[in-house]
Amino acid sequence: MSNALPLKIALVGCGRVADKHLKAFNYLAKNNRKHDKRAELIALIDPFPPARERILSGYKFTKNQTATKRNNAAGKKNVGQPAGEYIQQFDSLEDLFAANLNDSNRKPDIVSITTPSGQHYAQAKLALENDCHVFIEKPIAMQLEHAQELQILAEQNNKKIVIGHIYRYFPIIGLVAQDIAQGMFGKPLYGTVSVRWGHDQAYYDQAAWRGTRKHDGGAIMNQCIHALDLMHWLLGEPELISAKGTISTQIHQIESEDLGFGIFELADDRWLMLEGTTNTEPTRPEASFFVRLTQGDIKAGISSGKISFSVFASNGKQLKNRYIKREIAQRIKTEGFSYLLQMGNPHTAIYIDLINSILHDRQPLADVVSGIKSLELVLALYQDAGVVYNY
Ligand SMILES: NC(=O)c1ccc[n+]([C@@H]2O[C@H](COP(=O)([O-])OP(=O)(O)OC[C@H]3O[C@@H](n4cnc5c(N)ncnc54)[C@H](O)[C@@H]3O)[C@@H](O)[C@H]2O)c1
Repeated sequence: MSNALPLKIALVGCGRVADKHLKAFNYLAKNNRKHDKRAELIALIDPFPPARERILSGYKFTKNQTATKRNNAAGKKNVGQPAGEYIQQFDSLEDLFAANLNDSNRKPDIVSITTPSGQHYAQAKLALENDCHVFIEKPIAMQLEHAQELQILAEQNNKKIVIGHIYRYFPIIGLVAQDIAQGMFGKPLYGTVSVRWGHDQAYYDQAAWRGTRKHDGGAIMNQCIHALDLMHWLLGEPELISAKGTISTQIHQIESEDLGFGIFELADDRWLMLEGTTNTEPTRPEASFFVRLTQGDIKAGISSGKISFSVFASNGKQLKNRYIKREIAQRIKTEGFSYLLQMGNPHTAIYIDLINSILHDRQPLADVVSGIKSLELVLALYQDAGVVYNY
């Protein structure tokens, strides 16, 4: 499979989170002053046709594609046209590979998996076996063995896996992580994180997979995995030594937990504490993060969509404004001014990172290891809380 731009993307699952991918596709399919077209949506896969139609209607076709779309509507053939000039639709990923086995123009380079979590492993495996790079929404899989199998498969086939760990791609975070890794704030000591991401019963009732152990998990697996990934990354990605966890299902009619607490002992005397729930007011979702290092501390928060953060060095100096300036300068340099409108959609940054990792043969920021490590933390908490998790 070639890495010629634009890379061809197949989106598997056209539900809620697919909208964030769509926003990224619309950005990446444009030429701008800094970049040619980098990616193009070529296939939508969902067993529910109205879900595909909804995404299709939001995709901004380029001039070329619009003409082809018109031809399709008029029943004209697409045979021989370059890849990506129309969007194919399938009920399943199996159908896509069966239909396109011998046609490199119609085969995706990247398969993006935005289906219920219990399906991620099987679909990622199929995509890797068919020589595609994969973007897997979090969690990477429901079982550690499955996640590790995906890692091996990606290595064997020389393919990239990126995970939808959006917090790594929030503005400023990457720069702070870089400085921490270079020792600017000394050694990470501990972190605490609260995730109060309220959902009402209607959220869980909108699809049968939600809140089940097999296909979703509860507040810890679904909502807190982002935070666990971020904290573990900022703490230097130390090995997990032990976990203490407790969970409860307090107010929702679901199989999994809507409240959980965890304390993780990590290598090199580093610690992490988590509070996570979906029991709070749905109109005021919030998450707050604190990392203490020997020579500084970092606080960040998101409350009803509003982001706050502070970075203090050991001399008491607030470095927040320096980071904001650095972030904006870097984004304008690498992407141009048009990117600034994308800063609220971390999925665009994830795709840019994935495409660059493919072109330059390096690992993306939220690589397969980040998927494995965050899943390991969740499952260790569940295990200590007495949940038998073997899906
Ligand atoms: N990174 C993030 O910020 C973020 C945010 C929300 C959800 N997620 C993750 O994304 C995934 C999807 O969540 P959602 O809220 O979009 O769910 P959703 O229920 O809204 O959408 C899932 C879609 O997948 C389709 N689907 C089901 N089985 C399929 C199959 N075999 N092949 C193709 N399509 C199939 C469904 O018809 C539906 O349209 C979950 O794993 C969730 O944890 C990530």
